[in-house]
Amino acid sequence: MKKFAVIGNPIDHSLSPMLHNFIFKQLNLNAVYDKIYVPDSDLKTIINKIRSGELDGMNVTIPYKSKIMKYLDEVNPRAEAIGAINVVMVQNKTVIGNNTDWYGFTLALNHNKINVNQKKVVIIGAGGVSRGVIFALKQVGATEIHIFNRTFEKIASLSDEIIHPHEIDELKNVIQKDSIIINCTSVGINSLDSPIDLNLLNKNQTVIDTIYTPLKTKLILNSEDIGADIMPGLDMFIYQGLASLDLWFGESISNKVNFDDLKYHIESNLC
Ligand code: ATR
Repeated sequence: MKKFAVIGNPIDHSLSPMLHNFIFKQLNLNAVYDKIYVPDSDLKTIINKIRSGELDGMNVTIPYKSKIMKYLDEVNPRAEAIGAINVVMVQNKTVIGNNTDWYGFTLALNHNKINVNQKKVVIIGAGGVSRGVIFALKQVGATEIHIFNRTFEKIASLSDEIIHPHEIDELKNVIQKDSIIINCTSVGINSLDSPIDLNLLNKNQTVIDTIYTPLKTKLILNSEDIGADIMPGLDMFIYQGLASLDLWFGESISNKVNFDDLKYHIESNLC
């Protein structure tokens, strides 16, 4: 039996086991998926579980998407450019890190018919998720990305012709009535907190959250209430998970999965 897991800290909120175990059952795959709480000090040893064959693959979540890179044998060049890993696999005893967050985000944008061209995109957060989202946005043609983070030092060096880093208190001056706003922080995971002042929301904006627990965060609920377009985190989460499966199994498992059935399964288990 193949064994997979997601690692992180905290990890309780992760829906990866629900997603993957549903697919394993649906497709009759002899595999199981678990979640493992990993404190900082165990990050190196958990990689050995992959090298030894105890685990066949892993997803990586908060706060290790960047931190894990130094413990891997190889990093896919695209993941290297992104600077974050959310999936780990093993080939001939070589432990390889890759990134499917960017791809999941791209497919989720398509699925929700969100066009970022000619729009002012505002990102809050500068961790691993944020890096994947920025990579995806550039791929799909975003030309103006404004990034904010609680710790400005983490974004200061990101500046280029497309990315504009700002101090967090500049948010109110930068967000426009028709901006695309993307939460890439962990603020809102199983809480009613919002990463931005909710008074900055407007009905002509598109508001995206990368958080999927709760399915609709406070930010998403308030945006929906005032009539803005929304994209909660579940679609991105599902697409990154499907892409992880394709990497682990070396074949297109994702083509065999019915997206709507899978989404319904997750939503109905959480409501
Ligand atoms: P991930 O890899 O999932 O992106 P991460 O690397 O831990 O996780 O990044 C979490 C992001 O959420 C960071 O941008 C973090 O801001 P800092 O760089 O200042 O730490 C942001 N974040 C976490 N808790 C926050 C809070 N209470 N207020 C504002 N931002 C927060």
